[in-house]
Amino acid sequence: MKILVLNGPNLNILGKRKKEFYGISTLDNINIILKDAAKKYDCQLLFFQSNHEGRLIDFIQKHAKSADGILINPGALTHYGYSLHDALVDTKLPIVEVHLSDITKREDFRKIDVFDGIVIERVMGKKEKSYEEGLEKLIKHIKK
Ligand code: DQA
Repeated sequence: MKILVLNGPNLNILGKRKKEFYGISTLDNINIILKDAAKKYDCQLLFFQSNHEGRLIDFIQKHAKSADGILINPGALTHYGYSLHDALVDTKLPIVEVHLSDITKREDFRKIDVFDGIVIERVMGKKEKSYEEGLEKLIKHIKK
């Protein structure tokens, strides 16, 4: 089983962002935790982060063919990233969306989620634990 783990804008500087929303873990820390969790399921993870929507789309178009699912934190693209939305739909893969913070309880612009409805699950508000829970949900779905 192969899963693409994608992170959008500003998630490369996790650990230095507002701790009350995003916690203290760096993206490297989170990826190590995910790699460890994936071992239990004999699952391979392919990681990619970009601050550019087009780069995320290029990566998806290149790697989706050989993948079984996508775990993504789109960052602020969550609220307006329609070309990323379309690229994800075109993969026809199961997708789980994760957020460190609870976007439903923050500013109004964050309550808009263009991926709601195309993902099989949204996990949010649990800081780095959102990623672990999201990965488990995605793996269980793929194995069904
Ligand atoms: C985020 C929430 C987004 O609104 C924000 O722009 C981010 C991170 C989260 O993980 O909580 O960069 O996706």
